[in-house]
Amino acid sequence: MIIKNVGLETVCGITSKLPDNPHMEVAFAGKSNVGKSSLINGLMNRKSLARTSAQPGKTQTINFYNINDELYFVDLPGYGYAKANEEVKAQWGKMIENYLKKSRMLRAVFLLIDIRHEPSQNDRIMYDWILNQGYKPIIIATKLDKINRSQIQKHVKMIKEGLQSDKDTIVIPYSALTKQGREEIYELLDGFLNA
Ligand code: GTP
Ligand code: MG
Repeated sequence: MIIKNVGLETVCGITSKLPDNPHMEVAFAGKSNVGKSSLINGLMNRKSLARTSAQPGKTQTINFYNINDELYFVDLPGYGYAKANEEVKAQWGKMIENYLKKSRMLRAVFLLIDIRHEPSQNDRIMYDWILNQGYKPIIIATKLDKINRSQIQKHVKMIKEGLQSDKDTIVIPYSALTKQGREEIYELLDGFLNA
């Protein structure tokens, strides 16, 4: 996949209507601070079009990035942000659930999990939600640069077991620093575009 032009096209808050997009969408879900916006920047070849932050809870809207006028990357708000109050947490959950249910153009959902940690209960809930909406979650194990190369396989196994995922579930370790894993993600996207 070659990135020619990208732009933030639609931002949806809790009360906004979802856009009726003309091209397929791929969404990025995961816990707050796991690296969703950083991954989207890496895939778009842009340093900071998607706003990132060391503070969790940065992305609080659903952001649609138009890629080459052929697909959309959908940056979802992160869940599990401990400091948000219960009402805000519930609203985020509803927003994400509503999007997964309603979008007619959604083709695939990437679920990001920090490669260092065992999946949380929220991660498992998210994984099951995605499955229940009829998508096969593609796992991106983020922050690959934070562990030793020799530990990668062990951690991938831990994530698969933690999610109780099928044997054939795709897990792609990725680093926003080195961009390791990016080509595999591009290949998957090319597969969707050519299907
Ligand atoms: P929310 O918008 O709060 O849901 O977070 P997010 O999932 O979009 O995370 P974001 O991309 O903003 O990244 C959170 C922090 O993790 C930032 O400080 C990033 O620089 C850092 N980060 C993201 N990906 C990586 C990675 O692969 N390696 C390292 N070392 N840091 C990363
Ligand atoms: Mg973000």
